[in-house]
Amino acid sequence: MESPANFFLLLATAMLLCKLSLASNKVLVIMGDRYYWQGRYTGNGGNWVDELRRIAGRNLSVSNFAYGGGAACTAYSGMSPSLGQQVSMYMAKLATDPVYRSQLRNRPRQVLIWTGHNDLVALTRMPPSAAPAVLSGIVECIMNSTMSLLRSGEQNVGIMSLAPLDLTPLIRAMPGFPPLVKSAVDGINGALRMANTVVNFTSFGYRSNAACLVYAANQGVG
Ligand SMILES: *[C@@H]1O[C@H](CO)[C@@H](O)[C@H](O)[C@H]1NC(C)=O
Ligand SMILES: *[C@@H]1O[C@H](CO)[C@@H](O)[C@H](O)[C@H]1NC(C)=O
Ligand SMILES: *[C@@H]1O[C@H](CO)[C@@H](O)[C@H](O)[C@H]1NC(C)=O
Repeated sequence: MESPANFFLLLATAMLLCKLSLASNKVLVIMGDRYYWQGRYTGNGGNWVDELRRIAGRNLSVSNFAYGGGAACTAYSGMSPSLGQQVSMYMAKLATDPVYRSQLRNRPRQVLIWTGHNDLVALTRMPPSAAPAVLSGIVECIMNSTMSLLRSGEQNVGIMSLAPLDLTPLIRAMPGFPPLVKSAVDGINGALRMANTVVNFTSFGYRSNAACLVYAANQGVG
């Protein structure tokens, strides 16, 4: 991928589905993993959070809880805080840091979650028969964290669908892996879409757009 076109597509989808507008004094709270951009972890491309900051300029404050290597489930997160741990860190900061709280007060905010990619590494250490449980576990971890955020009073939580990891140079270089990884990613994204339909967030008393799934057609990432 030579241009950030796919990133813009992703961002545009996020803005539409999550009613996210850059033309206001918004705070965007990022959770999940720090996904690579143009195949680089950092460097002269930057990752998706860096890009978001650059595009939004001064209109958007980004509060970043995402960690490189972070996974949706604590069991697969290694040394990095998992999504659930990031949610706890965010809540603890809100509860104990008056400066942070005042920065967020009276400003619209949107939590955006992008995770699950690193969890898939676990599949390489297991027999294929274990895969379905791993995949549904990843979806459960993402949905549980989303529910925690909503229960704590968060108004807007966006879950971004996983990127097509099978197209990344890393996976492409592993013979036999691209189709497996593609079906795992498609499986998770399908399940996230279904979970988002089944869990009727409105029935919990939240705004109808309290949670949204950003089903990004970001083909070609990496
Ligand atoms: C930032 O906000 C201003 C004022 O609302 C708007 O004119 C501008 O287009 C916004 N910039 C972006 C990148 O959305
Ligand atoms: C998700 O939440 C349910 C209900 O609290 C809990 O029983 C389950 O263990 C959680 N799952 C994960 C993967 O954390
Ligand atoms: C979701 O729940 C709300 C409130 O209980 C209800 O009005 C609405 O019809 C439900 N939506 C769906 C799609 O079931």
